[in-house]
Amino acid sequence: MTAQAQPNASGSAASSHAQNVAAAAKIVTQKMGALRPKIAIILGSGLGGLADKVSDAVKISYKDLPGFPVLTVVGHSGELIAGKLGGVDVIAFKGRKHFYETDDPYPLKTMIRTAKAVGVETLFVSNAAGALRPDMKVSELMAISDHINYMGLSPLSGANDDDFGPRFVPMTDAWDMHLRAQLIVAAEKLGIPLHEGVYMAFRGPTFETPAEIRMAIKMGADAVGMSSVPDCIIARHCGLKVVGCSMLTNMGAGLSDEKLSHAHTLEMAAKGATNFERLVTEFVKLA
Ligand code: HPA
Repeated sequence: MTAQAQPNASGSAASSHAQNVAAAAKIVTQKMGALRPKIAIILGSGLGGLADKVSDAVKISYKDLPGFPVLTVVGHSGELIAGKLGGVDVIAFKGRKHFYETDDPYPLKTMIRTAKAVGVETLFVSNAAGALRPDMKVSELMAISDHINYMGLSPLSGANDDDFGPRFVPMTDAWDMHLRAQLIVAAEKLGIPLHEGVYMAFRGPTFETPAEIRMAIKMGADAVGMSSVPDCIIARHCGLKVVGCSMLTNMGAGLSDEKLSHAHTLEMAAKGATNFERLVTEFVKLA
């Protein structure tokens, strides 16, 4: 399978990108058999355990999908999993490439546009994030109502990929309010605390300084992280609806005495993982 793959990740030209998406979509469609997922889920740091809840799973390594990312961060392995979650057909992406690892948006574009090409209509994104509000507790979840792109770049910069979407993309309704309402209904049904708020994306890989956290709060953010905004932008560009939530793994820098580290992020994500898995499983049944 890898033999027919185009060169992966960095430097991939836009023209070979369209070919990669078509080739990856063909492989995924073929392997999925009778599955017809309308929702794809991107699993954030420490949240990959949801993939194990997918039954009748068809697993495809990113290595076998042309243009998909080659992953390096601990806690992420690269696999597309198609199957059933709570009886509903889904695709789960276990692992993705962040902007702190590469400036090349094409691996992420290939993942999301491949989902679209195989019939997906909704992208569910998840991430680990730092909480900025006093009512938020570590290992709780926050439904993302909107975002602030503070990464200093857009995945859509450069020539527009006309095959996939328009040059200019409105972001007024970037995070779908109806799907978010369903996420809130799912949380209420299960008795899982779910905050709602604005996610602000920094490029990382450093955690923020306390001054940056004070700035983020003043700018209207409720949580900070290093991902999901590019995912949302790419998905909206190709016409997917977007919904998602943050796992609040720590208070923002300077708001508590916690020492921030990737190990701490993974540990706190693990504590909230069961709630995350139950919530997403209930949500896909309602969506
Ligand atoms: N900042 C940025 N990214 C994060 C954080 C944070 O505090 N926690 C988990 N991911």
